[in-house]
Amino acid sequence: MQDLKGAVAVVTGAGSGIGYALARGAQARGAKLVISDIREDALADAKAKLADGGEVLAMRGDVADAGDIEALASAAVDRFGKVNLLFNNAGVFASGVAWKTSLEEYEWVINVNQKSVIHGIRAFVPRMIAQGDPCHVTTISSGAGITVNPGFATYSMTKHAVLALTEALYLDLTAQGVGNIGVTVVMPGVIQSKIMFPEKTGPDAIQDELKSRLANPALGALEAFMRQAVDTGLPADALADLVYGAIARGDLYVLPNFTDDASQATAQGIGLGRARGENAYPRVMQALFSQLQQAPQ
Ligand SMILES: NC(=O)c1ccc[n+]([C@@H]2O[C@H](COP(=O)([O-])OP(=O)(O)OC[C@H]3O[C@@H](n4cnc5c(N)ncnc54)[C@H](O)[C@@H]3O)[C@@H](O)[C@H]2O)c1
Repeated sequence: MQDLKGAVAVVTGAGSGIGYALARGAQARGAKLVISDIREDALADAKAKLADGGEVLAMRGDVADAGDIEALASAAVDRFGKVNLLFNNAGVFASGVAWKTSLEEYEWVINVNQKSVIHGIRAFVPRMIAQGDPCHVTTISSGAGITVNPGFATYSMTKHAVLALTEALYLDLTAQGVGNIGVTVVMPGVIQSKIMFPEKTGPDAIQDELKSRLANPALGALEAFMRQAVDTGLPADALADLVYGAIARGDLYVLPNFTDDASQATAQGIGLGRARGENAYPRVMQALFSQLQQAPQ
């Protein structure tokens, strides 16, 4: 999809980070905006900042709730008559030990990261098919959608699922002869955002669990390393430019942080290991632990 002038773009999780940058990028390219977030205050701030750039409909919603996503799709069409771009962006990260993480926390991350994409596809794709004009669905998986780190049980599991579901969408659209909808899955490594603060949207019932995770030495070291990496990572606006380039070309994948040799070796080691039935993780873990030891505490 090359020309976004007059198109209607829907962005979930638009109150911060990547979602806000994607919304700004769509607007800069001439699209009308429908932005959503679970946090009213962040959504209101985003709407205020985007207000001068064009038409913006802001609607509070929880991506884990199928009803909220259906209402978002319906409101977008009511207001603008159509919807062309869906950014299934909202997501959460919190490290945890696989057997210590509560069922409530597992369910929270599954619902927000994974089921949200199911809800988005089910609510928006039928409308896009009925419209018949150029449309595009973008999902945000992660580098953790192709690799796994210790402490990443909830995150990697759900981001692997987002990658597989997006590939399934692409394949089904092709096999069913739907020619007007492009598909892109974004797999960022580290992008400047507020992703490292899950307390801001975590359910009340797991706030203590979220806070206590950093007291675990392995998780604390990992998160300290990640916070520093996110703070100095690729700016979200630069990622948005890469995403709009991919949408224009019809690329299925955007892999922004995997261009350096070490990241390539990790991703290829894990991918090839899976394909060959060889465990690449001892080598990957050794590299990770040596990075953690060098990280500022
Ligand atoms: N920042 C990175 O390094 C990075 C790397 C890989 C993938 N990602 C993915 O990028 C996406 C955007 O994250 P970000 O880095 O901009 O983080 P962020 O925390 O800055 O922004 C996420 C936004 O989503 C909103 N949100 C959270 N739960 C929600 C829910 N249930 N319903 C609606 N909105 C909700 C938050 O309020 C927030 O405004 C996520 O899917 C994340 O997993 C980020």
